[in-house]
Formats: sequence, C-alpha cells, structure tokens
Amino acid sequence: MGDSEGMTVNTVTPDARKRSEVNIDWASLGFSYIRTDYRFLAHWKEGAWAAGTLTEDNMLHIAEGSTALHYGQQCFEGLKAYRCQDGSVNLFRPDQNAARMQASCRRLLMPEVPSEMFIEACRQVVQANEHFIPPYGTGGSLYLRPFLIGVGDNIGVRPAPEFIFSVFCVPVGPYFKGGLTPMNFITTQFDRAAPHGTGAAKVGGNYAASLLPHEEAAHTRGRTFADAIYLDPATHTKIEEVGAANFFAITKDGKKFITPKSPSILPSITKYSLLHLAEKRLGLQVEEGDVYIDQLDGYSEAGACGTAAVITPIGGIQHGEHFHQFGVEGQPGPLTRRLYDELVGIQYGDKDAPEGWIVKVQ
Ligand SMILES: Cc1ncc(COP(=O)(O)O)c(C=O)c1O
Repeated sequence: MGDSEGMTVNTVTPDARKRSEVNIDWASLGFSYIRTDYRFLAHWKEGAWAAGTLTEDNMLHIAEGSTALHYGQQCFEGLKAYRCQDGSVNLFRPDQNAARMQASCRRLLMPEVPSEMFIEACRQVVQANEHFIPPYGTGGSLYLRPFLIGVGDNIGVRPAPEFIFSVFCVPVGPYFKGGLTPMNFITTQFDRAAPHGTGAAKVGGNYAASLLPHEEAAHTRGRTFADAIYLDPATHTKIEEVGAANFFAITKDGKKFITPKSPSILPSITKYSLLHLAEKRLGLQVEEGDVYIDQLDGYSEAGACGTAAVITPIGGIQHGEHFHQFGVEGQPGPLTRRLYDELVGIQYGDKDAPEGWIVKVQ
C-alpha cells in the first residue's frame, strides 16, 4: 500500500530552518521528553501516501473517532542516531526498524510505510535537529520515535479510513540509569501479550498492558527492581522479555549465548545484532531457545538488550520468594561487557560494522 514517490520534505529549506539554542547538560540526560525543533509528518488517504513534511508543530489534531484512540490501531518504532568522533552521524540498522514496522502494520491492518520513506523521514528529522544530538563521548544519543496512527471519522471496530505517519526525536541518555551497572528485575504474574496475540508487533496495547507490572516492580519492597520480567503467557515457566527489552544469558561454561524464542516476544533488533556479534566476534555458540525461570543456575551472566536499554546487565531476578544472583554482585559479567563494547563501538563508529548496519546521516 502507498508509494514513496511524493515523499519530499517541503516546508523549509535547510537555510531557513529554526535552530533553537540547546542548553542541555549532556552528562545528566535521562530518558525524558525534550521538545526538539522538527518532526516529520505524512498522511495516507485513499490508498496513497501524500508528500511528507517537516513541521515545528508538536501537536496533532485528529478526529475524535480515530481508531488509534479507541481500538489501539497504531504502531511505533524506536531507533537512535549517534554522534561519532569525527563529527559524522550514524543511524543503526534503520532498515530493520522499517521492516518491523511493516510487520506491525500487517498485523493491525494498517498501510505499510515503505522502507525508503521510513529511512528518509528519519534522516530528515536527524538533520533538522542535528544540534540536539548529544556530543561523542557523553554516552547520549538522539532517540527517534517513528509512529503510525489510524485517524479519521469512524465509530465501529474496523480499520481507519486515514493514517498519519510521523517521526519525532528526543536527545536521551541511559534508559536504565547506571550504564553497565547491573540491575535487579522481578517476574510478574501479568502478561504483556497473549500466546497468539500481538506480542511480536510493536503496538501500543502491549505497552498499556505493561504499565501496571512495571509500577508494581518499581514499588516492590525489600530490593530495588528496575522493571518486570515477563514469562511466556501460555505456561509461565520460561523467560520472555525484560520490561521493554529482550533477554539474553550466558551459560555457566562461558560458551553459549542464549536468548528466548517465542511468537509473543518483540523481535529485538539489538538482540539479533548481539546474536551475530556473539557468534562472529566473540566466537560463542548462539541459540534462540527456552530459558526456564527455575533453571537459572545454569547461567553465569544475563542481560536486557534493546535500543533504549542498550545492554543492561541483570544482577539478579526475583521469582516468588527466590532471588537468583548472577555472578559477582554489582559487576557486569566479562562476556556481557565484551558484547556491550562491540555493540556500542559499532553504533558510535569506533568499530567496524557488519555490512549494511550503519547508515550515515551526514
Ligand atoms: C517489548 C520490547 N522488547 C524488546 C525491545 C528491544 O527491541 P530493539 O532492540 O529493536 O530496540 C523493545 C524496544 O524496542 C521493546 O519495547
């Protein structure tokens, strides 16, 4: 559906663009909304995408009957732009985010955003907000949030007559504070998705379902927990996700990188990147398989991985009355650290990237 031919950015020429004074303490950046100068907006109507536009307006004016508001017909993505040491800017695997958004669109009967349009929109947003990209060496990055919503007059449960695709950006620091400091997590009895539901699609409903488990995890007394661990929704015996991140572990013999496989897990681009790096650069065996919550003794290291979480080492997991500690308290495992160095090194341009992983924005 749709075509990207008319996809030009037609509001402002680069010379005429607004450029706000940016007064940010880069070192203390967290993961909070900061309004940046430009966002991309494109409309889909009667089977086609209209020309996209960069706009300063960060408000959307949409019909009260919009399916995104009532029936959760929307999806989104998250990716980052990184400032390199030579001043250039890297996007990390945006083609994979485009493909995943297309998969979300198919699941929720929305028109697919063509990859070319998706990547060009990201590129334009980064260029127009270039002054918001945290400097190299601060550990920050520019987080891009592409999203697609069903809009237009409607009342019944059916796909929307019109759609809006937008990309905005926010400068961010670490999602889980503390960088490579291990964090504790706690299993929840709630599910973020059903066995044959929408867990593999990046759609808002999964995240609405995660708000309460997150809140409960954060307020559990006794220890500090960063987020909830979701078990497989069918049997509640296997680890699926760590908050809004995928899970991985290293077997006790230090030889294998394992990450859960399930149709209700979001296919994390970071996870697939780590599977590649673990095998090709660290020489580990890699497996997508089952990680049983009552067999954690078989693993020496564990981590959460995602665009926002990067790699967050897991210190320990609380499951019912039992707390399982990985490795030495307060220290990331050696293989977790090596994976982190490889991944982050590639993202910031310090290490060679596998073919096609980096798209230069400037
Ligand atoms: C539920 C969930 N799992 C995993 C991830 C990690 O995916 P990615 O590595 O593509 O950012 C995310 C973040 O996008 C997420 O929201």
